[in-house]
Amino acid sequence: MASKYNVALQVVLFCISLVVANSVHFSYPAVFNFGDSNSDTVDAMDLPFLNAYLDSVGLPNFHHGCNYATAGSTILPANAASISPFGFGSQVSQFLLFKTRVHELLAGKKFHEYVPAEDYFEKGLYMFDIGQNDIGGAFYSKDLDEILFLIPTYLLEFESGIKRLYDSGARNFWIHNTGPLGCLAQNVATFGADKSKLDELGCLRGHNQAAKAFNLHLQAFCSKLQGQYLDVNVIYVDIFTIKSNLIANYSKHVFPRCPAGYAAATSVIFIQTYYRRFEEPIMACCGYGGLPLNFDSRVSCGLTKILSNGTTITAKGCNDSSVYVNWDGTHYTEAANQYVASQILTGNYSNTHLS
Ligand SMILES: *[C@@H]1O[C@H](CO)[C@@H](O)[C@H](O)[C@H]1NC(C)=O
Ligand SMILES: *[C@@H]1O[C@H](CO)[C@@H](O)[C@H](O)[C@H]1NC(C)=O
Ligand SMILES: *[C@@H]1O[C@H](CO)[C@@H](O)[C@H](O)[C@H]1NC(C)=O
Ligand SMILES: *[C@@H]1O[C@H](CO)[C@@H](O)[C@H](O)[C@H]1NC(C)=O
Repeated sequence: MASKYNVALQVVLFCISLVVANSVHFSYPAVFNFGDSNSDTVDAMDLPFLNAYLDSVGLPNFHHGCNYATAGSTILPANAASISPFGFGSQVSQFLLFKTRVHELLAGKKFHEYVPAEDYFEKGLYMFDIGQNDIGGAFYSKDLDEILFLIPTYLLEFESGIKRLYDSGARNFWIHNTGPLGCLAQNVATFGADKSKLDELGCLRGHNQAAKAFNLHLQAFCSKLQGQYLDVNVIYVDIFTIKSNLIANYSKHVFPRCPAGYAAATSVIFIQTYYRRFEEPIMACCGYGGLPLNFDSRVSCGLTKILSNGTTITAKGCNDSSVYVNWDGTHYTEAANQYVASQILTGNYSNTHLS
């Protein structure tokens, strides 16, 4: 057992060093991340994890940037029904406050090592992954046509936040489009009782159509932004295609846990241990209810609830999350996020090659 463990450890380290050595080279000194809980790809870069802005008690270090993303965030300002009070506009405002504070701290010649250097704000990368909660949330009170009609409003608000960042000196924008929301177990469980609403993969057609429409507008905005200013660098990343491909083709390919292309350099043990197929494209790993979705809106992952008739139900994690694409009904598993990150790093899904 001990020797097997050693092999596993070496393989993990091997993967990590390959990621660093072969990923697209990032020359950004800092990353400022905005969005919802989807924005989980920053760790693919050769930078330390970003401290969350809202977590600024203790001794956080913001030298290499800051994370403004919060779970449940929307592009539109929060309202009474929102999960997160931090819409995109508030995140941008928090960033601008942070920047002002950094200028004060730098002027006072204190805390240099804890905050970004003056020029990091211009040289840094501004990352965005937001929109999923606007669209997903709208389906609870609106039909598809109404949502399609609202999408330009989301984009105007997004554009206004990006403009504020540009005006403050931001130049490098990395913008993720939104994934196939119609394939999330939570949405399928809530809106998919009528099977005619589902496509051949078991995903909600309407939700995916809204996501695609949003992405078309987002892409058009990215092109406009790139054309409008000579000094910006806009990277639009097609997360929708990466995730749809994963869900549609989960069993056809063996998805490596390391970036693609290195299987040949590794041993048979490594391949057996780490090159697993995904087995569940839609069903949640952590939830309650079992097949087909393992999702019950009454009880979220990790929680226990006593029903009115006295029955206790618990949403537990599955035995092996690495064969699931979906973690808790709305988020992807670590294994799926790793696959997504590896696909982003190929550069094949971005309009601009990252360099
Ligand atoms: C699944 O894989 C096939 C073959 O590589 C590809 O043509 C198809 O577009 C993929 N499906 C999706 C939804 O990406
Ligand atoms: C309580 O309600 C749940 C869900 O409606 C049902 O599955 C369960 O059998 C009920 N338990 C009892 C003791 O009636
Ligand atoms: C998890 O593993 C245990 C022990 O092997 C097994 O009894 C149980 O049925 C498994 N649970 C699931 C959800 O596969
Ligand atoms: C990128 O896409 C091209 C064309 O589809 C493909 O040949 C190549 O293998 C892809 N690169 C990676 C690293 O996946």
